[in-house]
Parts: sequence; C-alpha cells; structure tokens
Amino acid sequence: MSSDSRFVPLVLKTDTEPNMIKHFTSTACKFFTLVLVFALISFNNYAQEISKDPAAINAGQALFNANCKACHRVQQKLVGPALAGVYDRTPSIDWIKSFVKNSSAVIASGEPYAVKLYNEYNKTQMTAFSSFKDEDIMNILAYIKAEADKPAPDAAAQPTTGGGGQPAANAGLPSTYLNVILVGMIIILILLLIVLGFLVSALKRFIDQKTLTEEDKEVVHPTVTTGSIFKSRGFVFIVVFLTAALGFKAVINGLYSVGVQQGYAPKQPIAFSHKIHAGQYEIDCKYCHVGVMKNKSATIPSVNICMNCHNQIKTGTITGDAEIGKIVKAYETNKPIEWVRIHNLPDLAYFNHAQHVNVAGVECQTCHGPIETMDVVRQHSLLTMGWCIDCHRKTDVNTKGNAYYDNLVEIHNQSKKTPMKVEDIGGLECSKCHY
Ligand code: HEC
Ligand code: HEC
Ligand code: HEC
Ligand code: HEC
Ligand code: HEC
Ligand code: HEC
Repeated sequence: MSSDSRFVPLVLKTDTEPNMIKHFTSTACKFFTLVLVFALISFNNYAQEISKDPAAINAGQALFNANCKACHRVQQKLVGPALAGVYDRTPSIDWIKSFVKNSSAVIASGEPYAVKLYNEYNKTQMTAFSSFKDEDIMNILAYIKAEADKPAPDAAAQPTTGGGGQPAANAGLPSTYLNVILVGMIIILILLLIVLGFLVSALKRFIDQKTLTEEDKEVVHPTVTTGSIFKSRGFVFIVVFLTAALGFKAVINGLYSVGVQQGYAPKQPIAFSHKIHAGQYEIDCKYCHVGVMKNKSATIPSVNICMNCHNQIKTGTITGDAEIGKIVKAYETNKPIEWVRIHNLPDLAYFNHAQHVNVAGVECQTCHGPIETMDVVRQHSLLTMGWCIDCHRKTDVNTKGNAYYDNLVEIHNQSKKTPMKVEDIGGLECSKCHY
C-alpha cells in the first residue's frame, strides 16, 4: 500500500505533471511569444526610428532633391505640404511608406487622413514612387528630420537667395565688351581734352608776355561764340569720333548676328520663367524635359506636366492669374501651347541629348548656359559645327563605371598617354553627326 500510496501520488503526480507541464509550457510559450512580439515590435520600432546617421541623411537629401523638391519643401508649403514633422502628424511611418509608394491607392482605400489631405490639396495627385524601397523612404525622412531640426536662419535665408537673383543679362558678351571699349575711349578723349586745355593756357600765358599786334591778339584771345564753338576743330573732332565709334559698334553687332542664332530669345505664348521654376523653386530640369536621359530630344513639357502643379497654384506673384490662366485654358480646351522653338539644328545634323547628358554626364548649363537665371530662354551657345567639334576635341570621354568603354580604353592607353577624348572614339567622323 505504502508503495501503492507512494505510487498513487506518483501516479497522480504523473497524471498531473503532464498537465502542469502542458500548463507550464503553454505559459512559457505565451511568455516567449510575448517577449518575441515585444522584441519584434521594439525591433520594428528601432527600424522605424528615423536615423541621425549622416550617410542616411545625405542619401535622403539626394533622393529628396531629385524626386520631391519639385513639390515639397521641408519648412514651406509648396504644391504639397511642408514636410517638417510629417512623421508625427501622419497615422504612422508605414502610412508614409505606402503613401509615397502609391498615394492614390491609399486615398482610394478611403483612409481618412489621406482623403482629408487629398481634398485639402484640391485633389492634386502626388507622383507615385513605386520603385522606392522602404530604406529610401526612411533616408528621406532622416533628411527631412535633420533639416527640420536645424535652427531657423537656414529657413530665413532661403527666400532671399531665391528672390534676389540677378537681373537677366540680356546683353550678350560681345556687346558688353563693346560698351566697355566705348566708355574707355570716351574717358581717354576727355583726358586728352583736359591735357590740351592745360597746354593751350600755358602757351597763351607765354605768348601774352610778348608784344603782339591787334590781329594776333584776336587770334590768341578769340571772343567765344556758339558759332565759333561749332566750327572749332575740337568740336568737329569729337563729333566725328563719336559717330565713328557708334558706327563701329553697330557694324560689329551686325556681324555677330549674321547667320548665327546665338542670343535668340523669342517671346513665348505664356510668360514661363525658368528663373522662377528652375531657379527659385529649384525644380529639376528633368521633371519637365523628360526626354533628356533617354531620347534624342529633350522635349518641351506638355500642359499636363504644368497642371501637376498649376492645378493647385492658380496665381503667380508677378503676373497674377493672367499667365497661369492660359495654362488652365489650354488644358480645358485640350489645345497644346504653341511654344516658339529656340534651339534648332539644321536637318542635316544629328544631335542626341541622352548621349551627352546620360552617357557623357555633360551638364545642361555647359551647352545651354545659366538657364535657371533666365526669365526668357536665350540661345547661349553658337551651335555651329565648329562648336561641336571643338568640344569633342577637348572633352574626355566619361568612361567611369561604363563597361562598354573598358576595351576601348585599354586599346587607347596602349597607343596614347593622354586621356581618351571624344575625338578618339570617332567624335569627328562626318557620319556620326550627319545623316
Ligand atoms: C507632383 C508633386 C509631388 C511630388 C513630386 C511629391 N509630392 Fe508628396 N505630396 C504632394 C501633394 C499634392 C500632397 C498632398 C496630398 C495629395 O494631394 O495627395 C503630398 C503629400 C505628401 C505627404 C503627406 C504629407 C502630410 O502632411 O501628411 C508625404 C509624406 C509626401 N507627400 C512625401 C513625398 C515624398 C517623400 C516625395 C518624394 C519622394 C514626394 N512627396 C513627392 C505632391 C507631391
Ligand atoms: C516647370 C517646367 C520646366 C523646368 C523645371 C525646366 N524647363 Fe526648360 N522649358 C520649359 C518650357 C515650358 C519651355 C518652352 C518655353 C520657353 O522656351 O521658355 C522650356 C524651354 C527650354 C529650353 C529651350 C528650348 C528650345 O525651344 O530650344 C531649354 C534649353 C531649356 N528649357 C532648358 C532647361 C534647363 C537646363 C532646365 C533646368 C535648369 C530647365 N529647362 C527646367 C519648362 C521647364
Ligand atoms: C513642380 C511644380 C510646377 C510645375 C510643374 C510648373 N510650375 Fe509654374 N509655378 C510653380 C510655382 C511654385 C510658381 C510660383 C507661384 C508664385 O509666384 O507664388 C509658378 C509660377 C508660374 C507662373 C507665374 C509666374 C508669376 O510669378 O507670375 C507661370 C506663368 C507658370 N508658373 C507657368 C508654368 C508653365 C507654363 C508650366 C508648364 C510648362 C509650369 N508653370 C509648370 C510651380 C510649377
Ligand atoms: C552637349 C550640349 C548639350 C547639352 C549637355 C544639353 N543640350 Fe539641350 N540642346 C542642345 C542642342 C545642340 C539642341 C538643338 C537640338 C536640335 O535642334 O536637334 C538642344 C535642344 C534642347 C531643347 C529644345 C529641343 C528639344 O530637344 O526638345 C531643350 C528643351 C533642351 N535642349 C534641354 C536640355 C536640358 C534640360 C539639358 C540638360 C538635362 C540639355 N538640354 C543638355 C545641346 C545640349
Ligand atoms: C560640352 C561638350 C560637347 C558639345 C558642345 C557637343 N558634344 Fe557631342 N559629345 C560630347 C561627349 C563628351 C561625347 C561622348 C559621349 C559618349 O561617351 O558616348 C559626345 C558624343 C557625341 C556623339 C557620339 C559619338 C560617338 O562616337 O559615339 C555624337 C554623334 C555627338 N556627340 C554629336 C554632337 C553634335 C552634333 C554636337 C553639336 C550640335 C555636339 N555633339 C556637341 C561632348 C560634346
Ligand atoms: C560633332 C558633330 C559634327 C561632325 C563630326 C561633323 N559635322 Fe558637319 N555639321 C555639324 C553641325 C551641328 C552642322 C550645322 C551647323 C550650323 O547650323 O551652323 C554641320 C554643318 C555641316 C555642313 C553644312 C554647312 C552649312 O553651312 O550649312 C556641311 C557641308 C558639313 N557639316 C560637313 C561635314 C563634313 C564633311 C564632316 C566630316 C569631315 C562633318 N561635317 C563632320 C556637326 C558635325
């Protein structure tokens, strides 16, 4: 019995033990699951934490400038809201991720915050960035947060740098030079006259010491009249000189414009300003000229691209609603805006933007000049065959990270010591530029 009694509890124990074990394991399981969930949440939180790492901030800045800056500023409302503090006001970081990747899907799902925001912004559609990884978006947020946490002077400085640009220099280089020359010549002329004046008065004083006849005195001390001034040699000289100088300037100006369209800046149907869009608001050239990276032609933006923003911005600081009204009208009547073409090579020549901008990495400004300072676009370069050739002789081919060039560079380096120029890859062959 005792053994039995000892056994029974044992049995009993063995009977309860599995229960206890079960109970124990299930509590442990729950506990561990909880710990795991907690760990995951906190890990997730950790992952969701906006980084202060300079590398992330820099990566974010690059992405922001290339993709978001057209519509967003950190501290300033633009086409979209100022993004400082989005991480606090939006429902969650995950919400931001989905919204950036595809805002219309979030809005379509009826999520209240998104719907409210969308209506607040006049149903302006934000671009979808479906190719963005979560990490990209976190980097952008890191940049926004770093920028938002910066002390104020940066924000205060922005409008002044934007607003106070230089007046668009309408005079091309040659006429600026000529003006300088003209002013220089006039200054020299005045100096000469002053020196002559001194000489004459010194001579008069010298002659006065001698005895003169009445006739000679009349010559030395003439009674000055307007008539005598007009007839005086000095006056005739000045008039001839000025006429010759102005004539010279006109002829040179004329010669500069024969056949060459440099400086051509026609009036456009809408007073579109690159100074405002590309300069002040720093909208990326590629946002509007969508062809530059892939195609021969850079393309002029369609009305739809203007409407991405002007759906929202209906008045301009300078022209009110007069000019923007024309965009809206063109959009509503479905009529394209008839922009006047400025840069135009003859049909016999072939020029490809993607080759120069994407493959060679040449900046737009190298060929088009400081477009972002121009209220009215003007042709900056000559666009002659000599201009193309000259650059192909001088410019190194951008071979970095381009496997296509590896073999060519090797062959080139065997025969020559200088870096490979465009000339060396056939950039001077007639058939490359002529159909
Ligand atoms: C074409 C203009 C446009 C571009 C480009 C754009 N956005 Fe937006 N964004 C908007 C508009 C407009 C809204 C307001 C909501 C709406 O109308 O859909 C918005 C809203 C947002 C919001 C929510 C803001 C808030 O206050 O809750 C975030 C976050 C955001 N954008 C991030 C980005 C990021 C990041 C990029 C770049 C990768 C970007 N946006 C590029 C126009 C744009
Ligand atoms: C908001 C849209 C927008 C942005 C951003 C923009 N452009 Fe333009 N661009 C236009 C429009 C519209 C025209 C045609 C009207 C005109 O000539 O002003 C044009 C014309 C031009 C032309 C002359 C085209 C011709 O007819 O020969 C050049 C060159 C040019 N842009 C270069 C640039 C460069 C470089 C940048 C960046 C610094 C830039 N654009 C940014 C809209 C834009
Ligand atoms: C990415 C946004 C964006 C795009 C795209 C855009 N604009 Fe603008 N536009 C602006 C902003 C911002 C202003 C400044 C509004 C102000 O003065 O407050 C502006 C102002 C203007 C003005 C008025 C300037 C003034 O001060 O009176 C005109 C005209 C204009 N844009 C024409 C165009 C045309 C034409 C296109 C298409 C080729 C275009 N915009 C595309 C953002 C944009
Ligand atoms: C190597 C010189 C060069 C560079 C770099 C360059 N362009 Fe051009 N661009 C030209 C020439 C040449 C033309 C005239 C092309 C023609 O008539 O076929 C032109 C024409 C244009 C035009 C009007 C005609 C068209 O192709 O749609 C626009 C807009 C333009 N460029 C914008 C840009 C922008 C934006 C960039 C920078 C992203 C850029 N260009 C970079 C030389 C250049
Ligand atoms: C700012 C300097 C610059 C100017 C100006 C310029 N190019 Fe180029 N061009 C280059 C560079 C750099 C390359 C090499 C691109 C590459 O790596 O394929 C190139 C390549 C080319 C090629 C391809 C050559 C080949 O062998 O693959 C053609 C065609 C061409 N350019 C035509 C023109 C024409 C036409 C003009 C004048 C309207 C012009 N370029 C003006 C810099 C320039
Ligand atoms: C890098 C590009 C490039 C190369 C290489 C090139 N050309 Fe040209 N060529 C041009 C351009 C651009 C024009 C148009 C210039 C203009 O409108 O002023 C032109 C114009 C011409 C014209 C017409 C001149 C005129 O007054 O209308 C002739 C002829 C010509 N090229 C012949 C040649 C011959 C021959 C070769 C080979 C030895 C050659 N080109 C190589 C770019 C090139």
